Amino acid sequence: MVNLLQGENTTELAVATLQGHGLVVADGALGRAVVQLLLERAPALAITLTGRTPTPRPDTRRLLQQAPDRLAYGVLDLCRDEQLADLRDQVNRLDRPLRLVFNASGWLHGLAPRQAPEKRLAALGRSALHQSFAVNAWGPVLLAQAVEPALKRAGRAWFASLSARVGSIGDNRLGGWYSYRAAKAAQNQLLKTVALEWRRTMPGVCVACLHPGTTDSPLSKPFQAGIPPGKLFTPDFSAAALLRVLLGLTPQDSGRFWAWDGQPIPW
Ligand SMILES: NC(=O)c1ccc[n+]([C@@H]2O[C@H](COP(=O)([O-])OP(=O)(O)OC[C@H]3O[C@@H](n4cnc5c(N)ncnc54)[C@H](OP(=O)(O)O)[C@@H]3O)[C@@H](O)[C@H]2O)c1
Repeated sequence: MVNLLQGENTTELAVATLQGHGLVVADGALGRAVVQLLLERAPALAITLTGRTPTPRPDTRRLLQQAPDRLAYGVLDLCRDEQLADLRDQVNRLDRPLRLVFNASGWLHGLAPRQAPEKRLAALGRSALHQSFAVNAWGPVLLAQAVEPALKRAGRAWFASLSARVGSIGDNRLGGWYSYRAAKAAQNQLLKTVALEWRRTMPGVCVACLHPGTTDSPLSKPFQAGIPPGKLFTPDFSAAALLRVLLGLTPQDSGRFWAWDGQPIPW
């Protein structure tokens, strides 16, 4: 288990000494917060943040303006094979080792009524199932495939992907949210399998599925009503907690599912 009591200082050090290149996928609330933290605390890390729009959105533009020499923007939709192929080429051509890959993408709901998280079986539909699996399950594993050659060259590195506690089969006590739960569970299985393969082929890489805790973001917005005061994390808080957990992990910890507070979550 991660020793949280080793705490802040150890992780501060781990973040501060990160050198090379970091790739943060998806410029949503958590993706941007992770980048902000890396910009502040990892001065020797160059970073690429990806988003789906050809022109960065205003919040992302503000980040880019903060550190034009250290932060670059790339377009990546994890559902588009040609963009994953471009990413593979780009990270493989980096002149610094790819030290950190942090996938902060995810999908929980769309605008269509049948794309709200399902409260009952009768609400389940093929399009939400497809969309959820495409982003939450196939996206992370195809990302892992795309960055594999670059990670091989890097040696020591972390590959983290945001999952969700509701994806834990062992922890499923409430039911509902069929497509999101199942797709996150599938992500966990796919990345555990990647971790086992990389343990043989890339023993310096640590793969981690991470649960950020309930965090204020567009993804959680429609479901925040019942959250007790003080229980909704800011993206900055979650990002700091997640980096603390992640950078406290070694390759021996690879292939597990961790919560923001360093507790392991059952599959
Ligand atoms: N917030 C929470 O309470 C909470 C709790 C548990 C787990 N999580 C997980 O944390 C992760 C980050 O969520 P968040 O809270 O930061 O929400 P968010 O702000 O809505 O971010 C989600 C991001 O995923 C991107 N995305 C969606 N489809 C994509 C695709 N096909 N390719 C690439 N990127 C795509 C979105 O891009 P667009 O903006 O272009 O759509 C957005 O940048 C997700 O995996 C989520 O499941 C969040």
